[in-house]
Amino acid sequence: MSSQNTFEIEDKYMAPFFVKQKISIDRGEGIFVWDEDGNRYMDFTSGWGVTCIGHAAPVITEALAVQGKKMLQNPNSGLTYSPARAGLLSVLMKVLPSHLTRIFFSNSGAEANDAAIKLARKVTNRLDVISTHQSFHGRTISTASATGQASHREKFNPLMPNYRFVTYGNLEELEAALDENAAAFIIEPIQGEGGVHIPSREYLKKAQGLCRKNGTLMIADEVQTGFCRTGPMFVSGHLGIEVDFLTMAKGIAGGFPFGAFAMTEKVAQAFEIGDHGGTYCGNPLGCAVAHAVIQYLVENKVSENVAHMETICLETMGQWKNRFPAAIVDIRGKGLLLMVEFATPDLAGKVSDECLKQGLFVRQTQGIGIRVFPALNIREEELKQGLAIMQTAIETVVG
Ligand SMILES: Cc1ncc(COP(=O)(O)O)c(C=O)c1O
Repeated sequence: MSSQNTFEIEDKYMAPFFVKQKISIDRGEGIFVWDEDGNRYMDFTSGWGVTCIGHAAPVITEALAVQGKKMLQNPNSGLTYSPARAGLLSVLMKVLPSHLTRIFFSNSGAEANDAAIKLARKVTNRLDVISTHQSFHGRTISTASATGQASHREKFNPLMPNYRFVTYGNLEELEAALDENAAAFIIEPIQGEGGVHIPSREYLKKAQGLCRKNGTLMIADEVQTGFCRTGPMFVSGHLGIEVDFLTMAKGIAGGFPFGAFAMTEKVAQAFEIGDHGGTYCGNPLGCAVAHAVIQYLVENKVSENVAHMETICLETMGQWKNRFPAAIVDIRGKGLLLMVEFATPDLAGKVSDECLKQGLFVRQTQGIGIRVFPALNIREEELKQGLAIMQTAIETVVG
């Protein structure tokens, strides 16, 4: 097949949800990908925060091959035991905050959040879900209902009832919202898709205290922040916040579609047989890949690499902001979840287009910014090479 042929087939047969970039990706290796015509690009999006240890990571392809030859999906699925699943559970227990002692699996981030919301209602026997403005929790009807952005919600009204919103970072609003109907408070410890917003450390800690006092379960949506994306394995664990549910996906299996949610023993004890399930629920292939990814993150001390790369990024981006104060209004982020905010969406769009012309994929976020979230094991020279392309793109556009 040629790129042209691929474009024609996808454009003809795929549901028209995306404005697509006319590039057909054939293969990848580490931070690089190649299109069908052999052109090389650098990926600063890691497939939207997913390929956390790079494209075609050998430990992933090995896990896929080894497990693929043995067992993909158990007879009676989750009703039978699996050494691949037990292996993943053991490794997850080592990296999760220690108060979270039970885990279940999903196929995506939205599905993990959906389950946590549903189950929080069961545990508390309450209905209301509190979320935050500008949040992103997924695209199923319940997670779109929990997402605090009009663009993801308004076309689908009426959404699910009993969802309410408070300002991210505002404790007074949260305290006022926490009443006897509030089953769950769902929050990203750092908002990702909403534009990379970091609350104060004290906010998350105090929010947890308020939720506990009110009998409301706190759900940390670590779908984007988990697995070293911002440095530590999980933000909530690093901050010592004892949430009731922690949801995961994206980086958990480095590109294989997989998700999970962890909970406290107390929460787990409130469930009955049949409260949740799913056809795949800990599919051995996904488990084997996730196990390999997490082991790689730990053994290679990837969180240290992330902290080092954060310093380089913020320093370089800070220089851009000083050089182009009228065009760049803010730079922010943690670890390798970073955002360069421009004065207008037009500027962000032009810079992002220029980056692609020069062989770098970046992600325009919320119109106004560019999110930088490459693979977490990126090497210093690769990072600097990508940042140099971004700088040239900014110079070309801003002048
Ligand atoms: C914080 C957060 N939660 C949930 C999701 C939804 O995950 P998925 O696309 O795997 O359903 C995303 C996706 O971007 C996310 O960033």
